[in-house]
Amino acid sequence: MDSNKRPDTMVRITTEELAQQFIEEQVCAVRKQVGDKKVLLALSGGVDSSVVAALLIKAIGKQLVCVHVNHGLMRKGESEQVIEVFKNQLDANLIYIDATDRFLDKLKDVSDPETKRKIIGGEFIVVFDEEARKLTDVDFLAQGTIYPDILESDGVKAHHNVGGLPEDMQFELVEPVKLLYKDEVRVVGKALGLPESMVDRQPFPGPGLGVRCLGAITRDRLHALREADAILREEFDNCGLAKTVWQYFIAVPDMKSVGVKNDKRYEGWPAIIRAVNTTDAMTATIEEIPYEILHKITNRITNEVDGINRVLLDLTPKPIGTIEWE
Ligand code: XMP
Repeated sequence: MDSNKRPDTMVRITTEELAQQFIEEQVCAVRKQVGDKKVLLALSGGVDSSVVAALLIKAIGKQLVCVHVNHGLMRKGESEQVIEVFKNQLDANLIYIDATDRFLDKLKDVSDPETKRKIIGGEFIVVFDEEARKLTDVDFLAQGTIYPDILESDGVKAHHNVGGLPEDMQFELVEPVKLLYKDEVRVVGKALGLPESMVDRQPFPGPGLGVRCLGAITRDRLHALREADAILREEFDNCGLAKTVWQYFIAVPDMKSVGVKNDKRYEGWPAIIRAVNTTDAMTATIEEIPYEILHKITNRITNEVDGINRVLLDLTPKPIGTIEWE
């Protein structure tokens, strides 16, 4: 039987009960596969890798070694949440690497979007590989592969993400959620006790804020982007849009305009709001955000975020605009 094919008889996991059943089966399967050996996992904090981590912690505890690489392009509070949930609450074997300087130094003065993506993906592998080599007794690599990744093996994720460890770093794979659809992964994550803010997360690209800090990334503009994005997310949480909108974020271009702040001339960057709905990310429509909420977000971003002096709204569906700006 092809282990990468979802059996026709497999029931869609929609309830806590079905999720618990799946978890029990996988806990047994993982223990059987892994024995007393160690398993390595790159834990980004995204839904899929987080659910795999929680599942493996349940199955094999400290035999799982999670590595969280902070590439400096995470959203506000994300790496902190990974540490809080996995290290503090689940007592995981977690290695945290703050590689911010390495990534930002490599990205300095690089403005071409594809080159930026390649640098981020490539450096990620280098950092992860360095850590993996320090651990001598690891035989398995766990991955948050899900069923759509297998079905659309040249789809969004595979196509965007720079893949794979070097040839001499080959492990046997542990992929406990590879036959699940995203909604099922979320149900399983909740049944494992992961916080909703982690499990119900909107999609976030591997290169992170790197593709939203447009052109050559500078630390001050990246900081402004991160703060503005945090305000957008907070206000979408407050008004309930966070529960209904598929993906929403801020992009900050590398250009300034003139403004006035505290009666003085104030040159700043614009923050561009993008909020889209889609089912497969191949096409997307625009969410209609009530003006009242837009005014509140504008007011907060322009007052609270250093360096931003305008807020703009992107009304472009996909096609013709892609979801991300780069
Ligand atoms: P676009 O911009 O192509 O985005 O309309 C479609 C979806 O893919 C996400 N995206 C990425 N995901 N690595 C990823 O893992 C990437 O480099 C990347 N670029 C775009 C994007 O956020 C949207 O959900």
